[in-house]
Amino acid sequence: MRIDILSAVPELLNSPFEHSIMKRAQERGLLEIKAHSLRKWAINKHGQIDDYQYGGGAGMVMMCEPLANAIDELQKEHGKYDEIIFVTPDGKRFEQKDANTLSLKNNVLIICGHYKGIDQRIRELYVTQEISIGDYVLSGGELAAAVIIDAVGRLIPGVLNDETSALTDSFQDNLLAPPVYSRPAEFRGMEVPAVLLTGDPKKVDAWRQEQALERTKTRRPDLLK
Ligand code: ADE
Repeated sequence: MRIDILSAVPELLNSPFEHSIMKRAQERGLLEIKAHSLRKWAINKHGQIDDYQYGGGAGMVMMCEPLANAIDELQKEHGKYDEIIFVTPDGKRFEQKDANTLSLKNNVLIICGHYKGIDQRIRELYVTQEISIGDYVLSGGELAAAVIIDAVGRLIPGVLNDETSALTDSFQDNLLAPPVYSRPAEFRGMEVPAVLLTGDPKKVDAWRQEQALERTKTRRPDLLK
């Protein structure tokens, strides 16, 4: 899978993919992530990519030309994108099932907004999905893009060592994950639930299912509806 990102501040995206699972995914050639500076397509030598909004009001808007020229050039180079995503607080809320669907794509572009957002005409002409990562406003789309890429990247077959571990994540079956324990069996007087020490996979599975359901009921009853 190839993911291109268009950003006014691509430096913000350096670190999130340089470690751990995302790093390994790239080293294995399963995932290619490239952040492009939108200023490369600026309209003048001052690096301008934004302008005042028509109708007045505070906040700059990211202009059509740099974005359109960037997308056209990238598509010429890498082929037509399967999805062009704009990350924005007014987009559709991102959920695990969206991560699952996106992990099956080959070629995705994510546009990160800044200031007041991007010119509406780019959204209408190019963008195929508008995604929000939650009901709060970030100062730019980069961290939202990083969240989406991390959630999607780990689902690409071969990225996780133990592929079944993505299947037992919270949300994959509309249930939160059950509690987990590691050594020691007793810590400050607190014991690991005895069933986990029985070595009986059926009993362990049943306990985990029951705990997952209990946790979901108390913390996220909305998931059970
Ligand atoms: N840009 C700013 N806030 C955002 C959010 N909550 N989700 C996606 N993109 C954003």
